[in-house]
Amino acid sequence: MLSQKMEEAINAQINAELYSAYLYLSMATWFEEQQLPGFSVWMRVQAKEEMTHALRFHNFVNDRGGRVKLTPIDGPPTDWDSPLAVFEATLAHEQKVTGLINDLMALAIEENDFASQGFLGWFVDEQVEEEAGATDLVGKMKLMQDAPGGLFMLDKDLAARIFTPPADMVV
Ligand SMILES: [Fe+2]
Ligand SMILES: [Fe+2]
Repeated sequence: MLSQKMEEAINAQINAELYSAYLYLSMATWFEEQQLPGFSVWMRVQAKEEMTHALRFHNFVNDRGGRVKLTPIDGPPTDWDSPLAVFEATLAHEQKVTGLINDLMALAIEENDFASQGFLGWFVDEQVEEEAGATDLVGKMKLMQDAPGGLFMLDKDLAARIFTPPADMVV
């Protein structure tokens, strides 16, 4: 059974994951407008992954006898100055989410909630990957300084990203 405090904190995290999906979908839209369809594919996959994060929390609340309460999702930004600015915003956002996951883990430890600690371990690992992926793209974008040739090549690379549904959960 989840404590009420933990249930509320996880419900807030479900909202944060859905906001992440919303943010990345907005970035996908922006990249389409910039004629960078590969970047848009990468962001669409990112948005789908965030949706599975929300569902992972959703399933966990149900499994622990808690109640999921969906709340309004804030509107994301819709415009950025450059492709580099988009990835800088992505990295900043993932760093913020890492902080949220760490706060959840700290609460689970404080409450001696071992099941939540085990569950949250997956997200701790996931955030390492998310930050590394965003850092890598920020670095590449800085190298090419939004030069059209580099953007065109990276756009082709990013178009290859595919969404793989997680094998260990029902989505
Ligand atoms: Fe996430
Ligand atoms: Fe993420």
